[in-house]
Amino acid sequence: MISFCGIGLEHPIVNGSGTFDAIAARRAFGDALVTDFPFAAFVSKTVTLAPREGNPPPRLWELGAGMINSIGLPNKGLDGYLEHDLPQLAELPVPLIVNVMGSSADDVARLVGAFGERDEVAALELNVSCPNVQTGLLMGADPGETAALRQPSSTAPTPSR
Ligand SMILES: Cc1cc2nc3c(=O)[nH]c(=O)nc-3n(C[C@H](O)[C@H](O)[C@H](O)COP(=O)(O)O)c2cc1C
Repeated sequence: MISFCGIGLEHPIVNGSGTFDAIAARRAFGDALVTDFPFAAFVSKTVTLAPREGNPPPRLWELGAGMINSIGLPNKGLDGYLEHDLPQLAELPVPLIVNVMGSSADDVARLVGAFGERDEVAALELNVSCPNVQTGLLMGADPGETAALRQPSSTAPTPSR
């Protein structure tokens, strides 16, 4: 057993967000997925406030040295996730880590607030590969932008650049 952010994990392997669909895998493998789950925690695909269709195909392209992807974060949005996905993911035998993305600190705060109230959710992962629509800065590329996610923009200081 190891401790990760205060969560007890059986081993150190977890999936990358969006690379393993546990709901589809349960449909394919049935309860064997639950009795023999491959990861020590399940990291969800990114959830946004509003539903997203994602990008048109091709979304994946194989290369000699690997692949590139441009999926576009299709998801049901916060309400759809809470209604349809969360109850199914709560049946997994491992802690659930929900990945969220917003295009402003307020959006992120709303997502974090909504999931923070749910006992089914052990932790949150922030997808910060998104520009802040208010400042135009890429959240994860600017330390000030990333730090500003700790408080909604209504109280956050104006970024210096
Ligand atoms: C098909 C696919 C879908 C992905 N979807 C998401 C996603 O929804 N949210 C996210 O934060 N990262 C997403 N990622 C990124 C992965 O979680 C991971 O960060 C990336 O594959 C790099 O992993 P590595 O650092 O282990 O190489 C996706 C990656 C792939 C290949």
